[in-house]
This record gives sequence, structure tokens and C-alpha cells, in this order.
Amino acid sequence: MYSKKVLETFRFPKNIGEIKNPDGLGKVGNPTCGDVMWVYIKVNKNKKGQEIIKDIKVKTFGCVAAISTSSVLTTMAKGMTLEDALKIDKQKIAKELGGLPPSKMHCSVLSMEGLRKAIEDYKNKKASAD
Ligand code: FES
Repeated sequence: MYSKKVLETFRFPKNIGEIKNPDGLGKVGNPTCGDVMWVYIKVNKNKKGQEIIKDIKVKTFGCVAAISTSSVLTTMAKGMTLEDALKIDKQKIAKELGGLPPSKMHCSVLSMEGLRKAIEDYKNKKASAD
């Protein structure tokens, strides 16, 4: 059974869509269920000179949990340093949603991996531009 927050987030997901010319893009899919997710990020520096996620959007073709976890991932990650964003794991995402049924934990993994891939993509692009 889904928590109230999962269902509410599913009905009114945040930061849905694409970012034109993203600094990083992560595409992930789960071959078992067929769900697919794209995570777009824009990176900027804060006053301390640390790289932060200035903007993040997701496009998710998936189940209730995939849509809820990807939405909550964006609200958690927005404004975070890249270093902290890389520490968002499936447990933190599930906790933010008031828990997930055990059979749906893999959906939060999809969101976590999408963000990590987007950050990796940003770092690779930056390295090849240097
Ligand atoms: S069932 Fe595939 S991500 Fe949820």
C-alpha cells in the first residue's frame, strides 16, 4: 500500500519536463518493468564557490512510485551541492515519501541512478571541455 505522500506526489508531481541545453542529462531504465526516466540538471556555483544543482527536471514514463520518487528527488536535490546530491540514496528518497512498499524500492533506485548519471554526464562534459 502506498503512503499518503506517495499518492499526493503522484497526483501533483513537481519539476516535470525538460531543461533545454542541460549541463547534465541522465537516462535510466529498468529492463524488468520497462520504466524509463530522464533527469536534467543545470549547475551553478554558490557563494562559497561550490557547484550546486541550480535547476533539475525529470521526465518519467513509469509507475506511481517511479513518478513520486522522481518528483521528490528533484525537490530534495535542488540547491544541493553536487557532492551532497550524490549522497541521496534510495532510503532517503523512500523516507521523504513516508516509506515505499518493499516491491517498489527499485523505483527509488531508478531516480537515484538518474541523478547520479546526470551529475556524471556534467562532470564528463566539463572534463572534456577543459
Ligand atoms: S515498477 Fe518500474 S520503476 Fe516502478
